[in-house]
Amino acid sequence: MSIIKRIAVLTSGGDAPGMNAAIRAVTRCALAQEWDVLGVRRGYAGLVEGDVEPLTGRSVSNIMQRGGTMLGSARCPEFEAEDTRRNALRRLQENRVDALVIIGGNGSQTGALALAQMGVPVVGVASTIDNDLAGSEVTIGVDTALNIALEAIDRLKTTASSHQRAFLVEVMGRKCGYLALMAGIAGGAEVVLIPERETSPEEVARQLRAAYEHGKRHALAIVAEGAQYNAGKLDAWFRVHSAKTGFDLRTTTLGHVQRGGTPTAFDRLLGTRFGAGAVAALKRGEQGVLVGLNEGRITTTPLAQIVGVQKVIDPELFRLASILE
Ligand code: F6P
Repeated sequence: MSIIKRIAVLTSGGDAPGMNAAIRAVTRCALAQEWDVLGVRRGYAGLVEGDVEPLTGRSVSNIMQRGGTMLGSARCPEFEAEDTRRNALRRLQENRVDALVIIGGNGSQTGALALAQMGVPVVGVASTIDNDLAGSEVTIGVDTALNIALEAIDRLKTTASSHQRAFLVEVMGRKCGYLALMAGIAGGAEVVLIPERETSPEEVARQLRAAYEHGKRHALAIVAEGAQYNAGKLDAWFRVHSAKTGFDLRTTTLGHVQRGGTPTAFDRLLGTRFGAGAVAALKRGEQGVLVGLNEGRITTTPLAQIVGVQKVIDPELFRLASILE
């Protein structure tokens, strides 16, 4: 096991509320081991350029309650190229970094695995509002994003009731329907459209109409952005068929609003536990692993076992949503 004197930490991909709590915990737990800590700005892009700053206990104070990431983040498709990764490796050597903590989702952990395979001691931290990363039942940011979506849904239901309207609400999640399914269950939707379970526009219209037939004053469909019929396509279908649907419909796409919130208590605690878990894993000599939460415990899973693996939504949740719809 090599001796660690200095680590670096970066946040990459889409930002997620709770990332700051993870940065803070990584920094303070590493300092407690008497390791130096460097913060890498703008994710992999900053890593390749050697854009780093020393982090102290003070520099990470007063960040936990803030959404986003104090280090900045970036999408960096260039990191797929071997040359770019070699530059990153050189920068790490120049800065005498002994280990790297990478906080992010699927794309970020793919980069983490590539670095691990080049011999860099890397630990990943599961963070994405999509909750689509295998190796952790829950990821940093999804709880806050879900709460933001629910607040918007509750507000839309108020105006929907006043006008006896139906609403289509599109939530994020990339190719994963987790956020939409949870928002649908917790938001009392009539129907949820997700990539994992196709629903035709005719069926959506039938379910929304049924809500009125049961005496409701509004009807709600939650649509995952990755669903075959996303909000745009569904909205177009309803425009063409408006004469026979029998109700007035409006569409709202929540978009990046879902990523910009103040982290919930859950995400602050999860970020903190994951950050501490990453330092503990490095201290134990683990590398090339992802820190996650499984069955209530902080776990590590080899990155090689989770990268490229599609996370499966618990079928029980589909069943529950169907009963409640
Ligand atoms: O992965 C998080 C996420 O917010 C997805 O839900 C969404 O599809 C994507 O990022 C948006 O990416 P960008 O912020 O680069 O537009």
